[in-house]
Amino acid sequence: MSEIAKLQALEILDSRGNPTLAVTATLANGVTATAKVPSGASTGKREAVELRDGDKARYGGKGVLKAKGYVEGEIQNAVRGFNAHDQKGLDKKLCDLDGTPNKGRLGANAILGVSLAVAHAAAKDKGLPLYATLVDKPANLLPTPGLNVLNGGKHADSNVDFQEFMISPVGFPSFSEGLRAAVETFHTLKEVLHKKGYSTSVGDEGGFAPQLKSNEEPVELILEAIQKAGYKAGKDIVIMLDPAPSEFFENGNYVFAKSDKSKKTSAEMIALYKSWLKKYPEIWSLEDGMAEDDHDGWVALTKELGSQIQLVGDDNFVTNPEIFSKGIKDGIANAILIKLNQIGTVTETLDCIQMARDHGYGAVISHRSGETDDTSIADLAVAVGMGQIKTGSACRGERIAKYNRLLEIERELGSAAKYAGASIYKRWRG
Ligand code: PGA
Ligand code: ZN
Repeated sequence: MSEIAKLQALEILDSRGNPTLAVTATLANGVTATAKVPSGASTGKREAVELRDGDKARYGGKGVLKAKGYVEGEIQNAVRGFNAHDQKGLDKKLCDLDGTPNKGRLGANAILGVSLAVAHAAAKDKGLPLYATLVDKPANLLPTPGLNVLNGGKHADSNVDFQEFMISPVGFPSFSEGLRAAVETFHTLKEVLHKKGYSTSVGDEGGFAPQLKSNEEPVELILEAIQKAGYKAGKDIVIMLDPAPSEFFENGNYVFAKSDKSKKTSAEMIALYKSWLKKYPEIWSLEDGMAEDDHDGWVALTKELGSQIQLVGDDNFVTNPEIFSKGIKDGIANAILIKLNQIGTVTETLDCIQMARDHGYGAVISHRSGETDDTSIADLAVAVGMGQIKTGSACRGERIAKYNRLLEIERELGSAAKYAGASIYKRWRG
């Protein structure tokens, strides 16, 4: 009775008002569950294909009716009767059915929608929460969140080139206490910006997006906010960066087109990071320090800084086990960003996380800049127990939904709940 009986897809909207898919899976016993697919803006070139209609008459070509058609047609026909509890088998079937290396035929949005909706239905069928069924031995570790309180780059209409400035509440006994401190700091940052006459409107991930004097000023402002909120930077709250430089890497140079129009070589970028780390020891994690096409830059960055801080690969690894495994061999990064829709199935996502664990890499479970109220990543983060999640700032409903889900899970786990806290930070900083 746990066989897949029906798949339905709906063209819904993401947090930027762009179409995306909601997929509902119904099992033969009547159990039904829905998953909603996110969408990135600063995407890696080698991400699995997000299928868009290209019909300019609808949503500027961004409609997903073709993907909806595949879910309800070809995919449904192929998986009807399949055991919902065999996630691996289902995901393999979906990949085989697509038949391309990058899910370019049916679309990673169609495939992930099905994969994730069935994962939810299987959990419901067992009467368990998703975090308890995603992996064989689920952890009970609440992740340390990275809250992206200042947005730049492609996520904001400002003059800051760097995309993400995150705060991570490491020095607290529980997830809820850590979240509270981070949220209070977010509110204090608003006051700090306001007093300086800066705009407090927000970007795609809910962080403030003011016009600033430099790419460095956000760090200064955040440090001020942490202190004014009554916390100690570097001890209670640390800073994570994601410059997302694939977006400003041009002809072998990093071009700060939004701020001072300067140009930097890979070596100069590394020197810049080194100078920041010296000045701001509160920075402990750097995601995408180098552009995805700057392989040599990545190797050099890892050699220079890999023993001092967490170096997270996002655009370069694209949650793809094959690409990630090559990166590990090449000595690139020491952690990976995990985004379900970069690869398109639950199983391949879990494979990537396992690969990280096996090779001593960290893994940060992540939202996309285009999100919905889907909270699967909160459950995923707890289940795999890698201790980290980034899912935006302390405003915008689609970000808050994930934090609220983590609060629920914390309550559900009760005294069994553990908080990753400083354990993630200590790994690099002793
Ligand atoms: P994206 O950004 O979802 O727009 O790709 C998130 C990130 O770069 O981490
Ligand atoms: Zn990133």
